[in-house]
Amino acid sequence: MTTTLITGPTRGLGRAATLAMAGRPGAELLLLGRAGPALAAVAEQARARGARVHEIGCDLSRLADVRAAASAVREMLSSGKAAPLRALIANAGAMSPDTRTASADGYELTFAVNYLAHAQLIGDLLGSFATPARIVLLGSNTYHANIWRRMLSVPEADWRDPVDIARPATGDRPGMKASGVAYSNAKLAILYYAHELQRHAGPGVDVSVFEPGWMPGTSLSRDAPAAVRAVGRGLSRIPGVSTPERSGPLLASVALDEKWAGLRDGAFVLKDRVVEVKPVARDRDRERRLWEATAELLEKAA
Ligand SMILES: NC(=O)c1ccc[n+]([C@@H]2O[C@H](COP(=O)([O-])OP(=O)(O)OC[C@H]3O[C@@H](n4cnc5c(N)ncnc54)[C@H](OP(=O)(O)O)[C@@H]3O)[C@@H](O)[C@H]2O)c1
Repeated sequence: MTTTLITGPTRGLGRAATLAMAGRPGAELLLLGRAGPALAAVAEQARARGARVHEIGCDLSRLADVRAAASAVREMLSSGKAAPLRALIANAGAMSPDTRTASADGYELTFAVNYLAHAQLIGDLLGSFATPARIVLLGSNTYHANIWRRMLSVPEADWRDPVDIARPATGDRPGMKASGVAYSNAKLAILYYAHELQRHAGPGVDVSVFEPGWMPGTSLSRDAPAAVRAVGRGLSRIPGVSTPERSGPLLASVALDEKWAGLRDGAFVLKDRVVEVKPVARDRDRERRLWEATAELLEKAA
């Protein structure tokens, strides 16, 4: 038996991936999500499919919660309450509609939940993996110009120094475009982080990035204006557009299947094939700076 940890198992892609993993023989899952009925429900459904399941209540917008969750996981692993940790899927994501909104630690909410919380969690657990192990981060094609996503007010990233990106906006309420840029910046940060993380992870820990394809009907846009959500619902009927039910099992496969063994260096998997990222997503200076700035931001919140 080996254990997989997944964040954001309560809906959308994370829920579908969780249920896909739960049906596999010998599955043991650490479900890390906001405590409440949705977490309890997915845990129950996973158990009903035969998995051994541990629920870990954690709000990713509070770094103290993330540190406590990591410490609980370390304790479960060292005491043998959970089987050795072989995979971590950093799936949870959010798109805050107002970039003035701050996390509990004072960081812009989208950057805090998608990126900083996972950097804290992974940093705290890096020494706890049983190798060979896989870390799968969630990317998005919105990091570069993408006409389809722009239709949903998600423009490409506009990179700045990470300390600046982490600072909530001030003044009048910024529009949906700012919210989309914040999301794309967080996803570009994940790519830079994945490349740098591979340089710091010990031998046998492989880092990849999964892009599920466009799933316009999920709750990711739950706080967007009604008109944007209506466009999303309409677009979700276009053939070829993905859904959590289609992409969830693919994410589970990248984390667990022999087929993907050895995938590393932040390799970018679009649904079921590895694709090369655009040149903007490979930048040693930005990757180094992000690593250093992340340590500063996490330290300040400790
Ligand atoms: N939808 C797309 O087209 C698309 C495309 C590319 C990449 N992605 C990425 O795929 C991943 C899953 O997205 P999705 O579309 O499935 O979104 P979703 O349906 O909104 O699910 C997001 C998950 O993240 C969790 N989450 C959000 N904020 C949290 C917080 N503060 N603390 C703990 N958990 C939190 C949610 O938990 P709650 O139930 O508690 O809210 C939920 O389980 C994200 O990383 C997203 O960026 C999505």
